[in-house]
Amino acid sequence: MNIDILLGLQWGDEGKGKIVDALSPAYDVVARFQGGPNAGHSLEFNDVKHVLHLIPSGIFHQGKLNIIGNGVVLDPAVFKKEIATLGVPLDELIKRLVISTRAHLILPTHRILDAAYENYKGNLKIGSTLKGIGPAYTDKASRNGLRVGNILQDNFKALYNEHTAAHLSLLKNYNFEFDLREHEKGWFEGIELLKKFRIENTEYLINRLLSDGMKVLAEGAQGTMLDLDFGSYPFVTSSNTISAGACTGLGISPKSIKEVFGIFKAYCTRVGSGPFPTELNDETGELLRKKGCEYGATTGRPRRCGWLDLPALKYAVMLNGVTQLFMMKSDILSGFRTVKVCTSYKVDGKEQKEIPFDNNAAPEPVYAELEGWYEDISAIKDFKSLPANLKKYIDFIEIQTGLPVKLVSVGPGRTSTIFR
Ligand code: GDP
Ligand code: IMO
Ligand code: MG
Repeated sequence: MNIDILLGLQWGDEGKGKIVDALSPAYDVVARFQGGPNAGHSLEFNDVKHVLHLIPSGIFHQGKLNIIGNGVVLDPAVFKKEIATLGVPLDELIKRLVISTRAHLILPTHRILDAAYENYKGNLKIGSTLKGIGPAYTDKASRNGLRVGNILQDNFKALYNEHTAAHLSLLKNYNFEFDLREHEKGWFEGIELLKKFRIENTEYLINRLLSDGMKVLAEGAQGTMLDLDFGSYPFVTSSNTISAGACTGLGISPKSIKEVFGIFKAYCTRVGSGPFPTELNDETGELLRKKGCEYGATTGRPRRCGWLDLPALKYAVMLNGVTQLFMMKSDILSGFRTVKVCTSYKVDGKEQKEIPFDNNAAPEPVYAELEGWYEDISAIKDFKSLPANLKKYIDFIEIQTGLPVKLVSVGPGRTSTIFR
């Protein structure tokens, strides 16, 4: 039982990158198990902010191994760009990072298909990050994908041409302009760079490391409410973002899982389309966006903001088997006279605690209103010094979810983290 999982309980961007980085010293291995360059994980130390898309957030720690697992979809062009921005020498990165042979590749034409599909969706646009995620996972599921292991084979270029030709013929059905050469820029250089890294059957590696008593932290991407099965389908991503995804995305058994750290913002945000019952389309929502700098780390889009949604949080706790809660961006809630928390929904006047199947159900949130606090908490280092009303807010969440809030984050920096 040596794997802990850290994952998002809301619609992504909960602050996973910051906490994985902060927890990394306590682990030997950090492993990504799903998603791809749609993720944008920010972390900050020594006053420098880094945004990671594909590379696990343990990469800045010397002596730690980072694994890109089989469940990830990898775009070599993004990989190359990201490697160049880390500020860590390549020979050191080669020691710290291993990539699964079985991770699927995002081809330039997957990005184009993503854009073409979105363009044709009209009102039903998902708000995809357009990184090629959906088409790459589609090819994986339909058994048409190319995997990282294929790049080591002599016929790789022929395989690439075959796959690209199939995608181009699909694209003929869409009246969509694109420049394949532009999209291919950096992609083949990325392939050559990938070949310099360890490419292995990481399911064996990770199980060997576990048998040797090493501690592994699995890093989720996106959030539970964007899960392919349990999110507000079709406004979801194309992978299983929940804890079960760590088993299929790394090749580990459920028996090896110890803690499931569920990370949530003290309020809610969502970027892209889809239901968001507690969304605030008013000056309070605008204030949360401004104070919280709520703009996407991958696309720069403004994030939709709203109050904390407990039915959604409890759903996420249930689906993931969360053992500890981590509350992020608590500093952003300072300065409100009262703070609202949605405790249930009303649909057609009837109370409903479950997340509706139907995206058009438009559940009306039922709120509890708690007294706010005004203190700037960003420099606080210990739990007992937090304002009394913030502690009451945390108590309320603990009672409602039945779980302890073991970490309170009060700023974007590595050290602005209060452990309990
Ligand atoms: P991730 O995708 O879950 O890793 O989260 P993102 O990096 O996309 O978004 C979280 C944003 O909030 C980033 O800009 C972080 O630097 C920032 N952040 C994380 N924790 C805190 C916090 O406790 N307070 C504040 N003010 N910002 C935070
Ligand atoms: P991190 O890991 C927030 C959203 C997109 C869109 C939907 C589908 O940083 O928390 P996709 O590109 O996967 O086809 O987009 O999912 N989305 C995210 N929202 N954080 C993310 O990742 C996201 N990754 C995808 O905005 O609504
Ligand atoms: Mg993010």
